[in-house]
Amino acid sequence: MKLLRRICKWIGIVTLVVVLVSGLYLFVAYWQSSNDCDRNTVAPAHPMKAIRKCEYGTVTLRAVEKPIPTDDQVLIKVRAASLNAADGHLLRGFFAMRPLTGMRKPKDSRFGIDCAGTVEAVGKNITQFKPGDEVFGSANGAIAEYVCAPQRTLVTKPENITFQQAGSVAVAGLTALQGLRNQGNIQRGQKVLVNGASGGVGTFAVQIAKAFGAEVTAVCSPRNLEQARSIGADHVIDYTKEAFTMGEQRYDMIFDNVGNYTIAERRRVLTPNGICVLAGMGSAGKHEGQWSRLAGNLKSFLVSPFISQKFKFFIAKVLQADLTILRDLMQEGKVKPVIDREYPMSETAEALSYLEEGHARGKVVITIE
Ligand SMILES: NC(=O)c1ccc[n+]([C@@H]2O[C@H](COP(=O)([O-])OP(=O)(O)OC[C@H]3O[C@@H](n4cnc5c(N)ncnc54)[C@H](OP(=O)(O)O)[C@@H]3O)[C@@H](O)[C@H]2O)c1
Repeated sequence: MKLLRRICKWIGIVTLVVVLVSGLYLFVAYWQSSNDCDRNTVAPAHPMKAIRKCEYGTVTLRAVEKPIPTDDQVLIKVRAASLNAADGHLLRGFFAMRPLTGMRKPKDSRFGIDCAGTVEAVGKNITQFKPGDEVFGSANGAIAEYVCAPQRTLVTKPENITFQQAGSVAVAGLTALQGLRNQGNIQRGQKVLVNGASGGVGTFAVQIAKAFGAEVTAVCSPRNLEQARSIGADHVIDYTKEAFTMGEQRYDMIFDNVGNYTIAERRRVLTPNGICVLAGMGSAGKHEGQWSRLAGNLKSFLVSPFISQKFKFFIAKVLQADLTILRDLMQEGKVKPVIDREYPMSETAEALSYLEEGHARGKVVITIE
């Protein structure tokens, strides 16, 4: 009994010390957290305009120093960029992520991921690009007049698409491609359903699934049915009238951008060895049912190893080989980025608010004047 009391006492002391030390660490980290918006107080010698997230929750247009490429970087004069759900998440900074992204302020104030533009200069180790080349891909801080990126996150822009279209491809296009091919193992002739077919990822998923030879069913709201057909969907389902999980059709793959049905409901319409690829949990914005969808999808992910139908969650990776596949698909006319709205850089906050309403019809693009 005495020994038990002693063990409990020491567990209590150790727990208290851990809590106090972590609290102190978080307190110091919180107040020490700063970024280059605080540090760069003198006027830039070579100014350029860029969007910065100096504080969590707000973006501002600032004059900042034009970046200089390292030996392994390409300097791009940005012509267009686009917004993704991830930009909003990073801007708000989920509390669980803040030890990594900065406790009080974002450590990295740069904003935007997808971009397209013209190569202005290259570092001495760059072999694939030269000044004047038109490129697209991914670059941290894309919503700016200039941005630096490693060559492995860029490819040349096909001539048949605009900078605005090219600047909308990276995150959404890669998510669709990697979800369908790597997670879903898409095969010619398969029946693929895209839930959330009219947004940024969905419009790429419908076209890429068609390019792989699948028979595609697109689920969207009534105002987007025609758009879904125009980008190649064989069948369309209006989710305001009909739950796809109640139909008679069975699918080899559900590419799910929404996650608004239970495991049992989705299993009902999957073939016995069908795969549900969990790309997203709704739309870019915050919406009702967000947490229950998250819980439902986590549950399906945990149940998946024990059933014949598979539920697969993934995070897209920026791979040059996959950007090249997307480039080739666009060059062949098999994929055409769908652009909903274009905003100037000075209206990035408005553009993000629009995207986060959750009903974008394709991609929301920022044009760099
Ligand atoms: N896994 C990854 O690596 C990765 C990468 C990028 C994005 N994502 C995630 O993927 C999801 C989609 O991203 P996004 O960029 O495509 O978002 P988005 O552009 O906001 O599009 C979401 C679409 O969902 C549709 N929608 C909303 N409620 C619906 C419902 N009940 N049934 C069917 N469709 C519905 C909306 O169309 P209507 O207007 O017709 O309702 C909207 O067009 C987000 O959760 C995002 O976080 C994941």
